[in-house]
Amino acid sequence: RTLRIGLIPGDGIGKEVIPAGRRILEALPASLGLKFEFVDLKAGWETFEQTGVALPEETVSVLKSDCDGALFGAVSSPTKAVKGYSSPIVALRKKLDLYANVRPVKTVVTAPKPIDMVIVRENTEDLYVKEEKTYDTPQGKVAEAIKRISQRASSRIATMAGEIALRRQKIRAGGAPSIHNGPLVTITHKSNVLSQTDGLFRSTAREALAAARFQDSGVAVEEQIVDSMVYKLFRQPEAYDVIVAPNLYGDILSDGAAALVGSLGLVPSANVGEGFAIGEPCHGSAPDIQGQGIANPIATLRSAALMLEFLNEEAAAAKIYAAVDGNLEEGKLLSPDLGGKATTEEVVQDVLRRL
Ligand code: NAI
Ligand code: MG
Repeated sequence: RTLRIGLIPGDGIGKEVIPAGRRILEALPASLGLKFEFVDLKAGWETFEQTGVALPEETVSVLKSDCDGALFGAVSSPTKAVKGYSSPIVALRKKLDLYANVRPVKTVVTAPKPIDMVIVRENTEDLYVKEEKTYDTPQGKVAEAIKRISQRASSRIATMAGEIALRRQKIRAGGAPSIHNGPLVTITHKSNVLSQTDGLFRSTAREALAAARFQDSGVAVEEQIVDSMVYKLFRQPEAYDVIVAPNLYGDILSDGAAALVGSLGLVPSANVGEGFAIGEPCHGSAPDIQGQGIANPIATLRSAALMLEFLNEEAAAAKIYAAVDGNLEEGKLLSPDLGGKATTEEVVQDVLRRL
């Protein structure tokens, strides 16, 4: 099977880590029967400065018509609104209907407690529909934003969380070491305050996870109010397996969870739709370290593996995960964000050698 992969480095360290993702895919053993073709694509702040658009039409059309998946680095975004600029990854999620953002957060040896969870974030709606307005009142300006929650989006995201819980259960049954007893999905919301929007998310997710194929396989379902979820996540991260949340809570929880494992440079994500996945490291363009050759490539390597998982290439993904875990377990060639001295290139070389 030949997979065509779009490469969108974006800005800053995206340009340093995406080539690492390409190399790890190219280095997968031939015995897997997988071949790759790569297409270089543009998006981001630099692209905006050069062309006036952050996400060129060509990038979208090539991804749509000509790619099986993609790797996206990171883009810099201005802190103030700039006319004509909007985040390309947010737009891509919409245009390709990548309705799920999946972030596994796992320790190897880099945190005091074992952690092995996946945060499944709804990716298309909630406050991120970006329907905002500002108006004047006698007391000054008022700004408002729409929070939109639909039954359809809530149902499919909860179903995906259930599927991921089942897949993880299968991998454990295959002998992978685990800190969990059985599959668990935790629904996160704030329906005690937002009874209509989060209320709909909660009831729809409950219903989706009550499906026979989850219940018969012993997928346990629980709920956490989002503020208490944050508390428990920091106190008892080992208790969680799969967490499903609407867009905004999921965004915040997944960055918070990333802090638990030592560095943003370790945490991958995938934007997933029907038959298409974009792997994307959780971190941003890291202007403070760009150009120094010390960015941790592991988040990107794991994102490449995660993309493969959703393209049904689990064996290839497992090889990458194992090579990365090997590097972390040995702990000799770690990048500076993990307290080591290795460069991006040295980490990549070490992982390639293990692969
Ligand atoms: P950031 O993730 O770029 O950096 C936060 C801190 O983590 C920095 O100290 C950075 O050096 C460190 N870091 C991040 N990735 C690392 C890696 N792979 N290896 C070693 N250290 C790493 O977040 P920040 O500073 O808030 O944002 C910088 C720019 O990135 C902004 O323009 C922001 O808008 C953008 N951004 C883009 C994202 C995306 O494209 N998905 C996500 C987050 C931020
Ligand atoms: Mg974020």
